[in-house]
This record gives sequence, C-alpha cells and structure tokens, in this order.
Amino acid sequence: MLDLGMIGGDSSRRAVPSAGASYPYECYILTRDDAGATGLHQVDPGRRHCQMLSCGPRIDEALCHAALAVPEGGAVVVLATRPWLSMRKYGDRGYLYTQLDTAHLHMNLVLAADNLGAGVVLRRRPQGLESLVTEYGQCAEVHSALAVTALPAGDGPDVEPPGWVVRDARATRPASLRQQPHWLERLCWESLVTDSAGVEVGSLNAAISLPTAVRRRNRTPLVPRAAFHSRRSATGFAPGTVPARDVRSTVDRAISVLDDVLPAAGTPPHATLVIRQEEREQGKSGRPTGQSIRWLPELTDESVTEAFMAQRHLADASAVLLLHAPTASLIEETGGSQLWTVLYRAGALAQLVYLEAAQRGLAVTGVGGFDSERWKQLAGLPADHDVVYAVAMGVDTPDAPKLDRLAVAYAQNERS
Ligand SMILES: Cc1cc2nc3c(=O)[nH]c(=O)nc-3n(C[C@H](O)[C@H](O)[C@H](O)COP(=O)(O)O)c2cc1C
Repeated sequence: MLDLGMIGGDSSRRAVPSAGASYPYECYILTRDDAGATGLHQVDPGRRHCQMLSCGPRIDEALCHAALAVPEGGAVVVLATRPWLSMRKYGDRGYLYTQLDTAHLHMNLVLAADNLGAGVVLRRRPQGLESLVTEYGQCAEVHSALAVTALPAGDGPDVEPPGWVVRDARATRPASLRQQPHWLERLCWESLVTDSAGVEVGSLNAAISLPTAVRRRNRTPLVPRAAFHSRRSATGFAPGTVPARDVRSTVDRAISVLDDVLPAAGTPPHATLVIRQEEREQGKSGRPTGQSIRWLPELTDESVTEAFMAQRHLADASAVLLLHAPTASLIEETGGSQLWTVLYRAGALAQLVYLEAAQRGLAVTGVGGFDSERWKQLAGLPADHDVVYAVAMGVDTPDAPKLDRLAVAYAQNERS
C-alpha cells in the first residue's frame, strides 16, 4: 500500500503532486508487533525509509483518545502537516498549499487501500494524536488518520516491502534527542497558532468529525492500479485541444468517486469546468452533475497566462477545473470556517482528476498560482466566491519547464 499510495511508477517520483515539490507533511504508521505492542513508525517516501520511533502503551492510549484502534493485522496511518515547508517558499499561500498537498496524499492512500482490497476508516483531524506527532515533529498539525484493515493474503503489507528500509530507530533517535525545529519554522508556527486572522488555525481544537468508513471489499477498485503508475504533473501544454468529452468524463468520474468515498452533499468547493471550445454534445444524455461548464472558445492564451500569474507553460491548457467556495465560508472566525473541509475536498478531488486524466491520456497539473479575481471574471463565477485551487488539462508537451519547482516561488507574481 505504501508503494501504491506514496511512490510513483518510476520509483523516483512521488505518487502525489505537491506545490513546488515541497511535500509539507509527515506520515506516521502505527502497527502492532507479534507480541501485541503498538509501534509508531515515521515514513520517508523520498528515501523509502520507515523507522520505528517508539513502542508501548502510550501509543495505544493516544489511539484510544482519538477513538481509533489498530485493526487486527492492519495499521493506522496518520498524516501531519508542516506548513513551514511550503510557507518558506510561498508565504501565506503556502498554508493553503500545505492543506491541498496533504489532501492529495490522503485521498491517494485511501484509493491505494481500496485498490488492494482493504477497508478504510477515516478520521479527519482526530484529537488525541497530537502528543505522538509533536514529540517527533514540533510545528506540525495532525491532519487526518486512516485505519486500514488487513489486506487480503498476497497483497498484505510485507514487513519490508521491496526497496524500503525498515529499521528500529528507538536507540538512535529517542524523543529526548529529537531534532529541534529551526527557529524560523517555530516563528512561522507561532504566527499560525496565535494569529486569529489566520482563519482555520484557531480550529486546531475543532470538534472531531464523525468517522467515515470506506468498505468496498470485493468490489471493482475505484481506480485501477495502472493509473497510480502513470500519474504525473504536466510540465506544460502543447497547442491543440483534447476531446471535450474526455475532459468532462474525467471530472464527472472524479466527482462521483469523491462523493462515494467522502459523501457530503452540497459541501463546497463548487466545481466549474472551463472548456476552451465551442459548446458541443448538447442534449447528450447523462449530463454531468456536480459541475458547471463554461464553454469559452474565445479565451486567449494571454488571458489564461495572466490568470495563471504569468505561468506561460500553462497558456495552452484546453480546459481548467476551477474549485471555488463562498469567501465567507472560508474566513468566518467564529469557529464555523469551512476552510479545512473545502481544501480537503479540493485536494482530494484534484487527486482523483489526476488519476482519471491519466487513464484517458490527458495531460494534467494542479495549479496553485492563479489570480482568483481574474478567473472569477473569465468564468463568470459568483462575486462572493473565491477560487481555492485549479486543475489544468490539455495536450501534453514533453519539454516545457516546470517553473514552480524553481527555488523562488515563480508562480506568486513576486517579480515582474
Ligand atoms: C497544491 C499544488 C499547487 C501546484 N501549483 C502549480 C503551479 O502553480 N504551476 C505548476 O506548473 N505546477 C503546479 N503544481 C504541480 C507541481 O509542480 C508538481 O506536483 C511537482 O513539480 C511534482 O511533480 P509531479 O506531480 O509530476 O510528481 C502544483 C501542485 C499542487 C499539489
């Protein structure tokens, strides 16, 4: 599951995209050993390292507090965000990217477990696990947890899956010797937890959401294994158009899988699909639900480039999925902010779009560097909405540069 959920097909690539390839999160795995003791492991998918940090009843207590348990023969996977890893490059916007990036990974792990036939129980922002996470990574926030039931024989999580190094780091990295965060990371973190204007941050203590159970044993996987292996972010788009029906069915299927896995009727973000072609397929039965479509053949490359903050390599995108939500739902300060949920669903949906696009041969990339006002104008979105994420699709081009990987945040319009 780790291979499918975290590592891409060519093994040098991750299974999920990340703004500027910064991967601003940590992944922990809790499993039980033969003697019944629960161990806490930290996973580094880049290096394919899985190291045990601690073991013992304290971990069970934390799990109990979070209303979770390690399923027999299975594991609990905990994701914790480290906003600093993205914010040092992207400023405040890096906070949004952190949530989107982590949602991509979360959804991919759910789909990988589903693909292998495991059952999954989800917890969003479970309380009780902070102590475990912060002991080994201060300035981190628990994002979500998945309890994965045992995989069927043959597909089960080997003790040491091929290419992974699993080691016991308790002696070499006891909690008392843990690495202290860089002072800049601490400053960034403190600004997040004390800044009441920082929307969602005040809800670190938000109520636990009800668990979501994904139990699809013996059903066709939601996403075939091949899609996990071929996923990648387009480095640019070639001129030309991709079939509108492929784009529509990509988005349609992604929305329906999201609703299957994380049902939440009517919850933002809203999805508006901009297609740079004449309207086609009028009257076709099975009109997509859950997305609005704007046919905009007149949209120029210059407008698209401008709306994507001068990212020229995106100028020839054939279609853009805009995920947007009422601004008020994002910034309410009375504990009612939906920011976390909106970004969680936006990132999860975008991951599904990546995987569906891969199956249809569409080039695709998530885009965080966009001008919300400009896109609202171009696509006629409600004035009181804000775009939170965009996914561009089109014809692939092999040799365009991926500018947001550069050290300086090129996509943020910080230089003219
Ligand atoms: C939240 C988010 C924002 C992103 N923003 C941009 C962007 O503005 N421009 C762009 O070209 N790529 C963007 N990407 C794609 C990343 O550059 C890409 O995921 C990263 O380089 C790793 O490449 P890979 O996805 O092929 O593994 C974004 C990805 C995510 C998840």
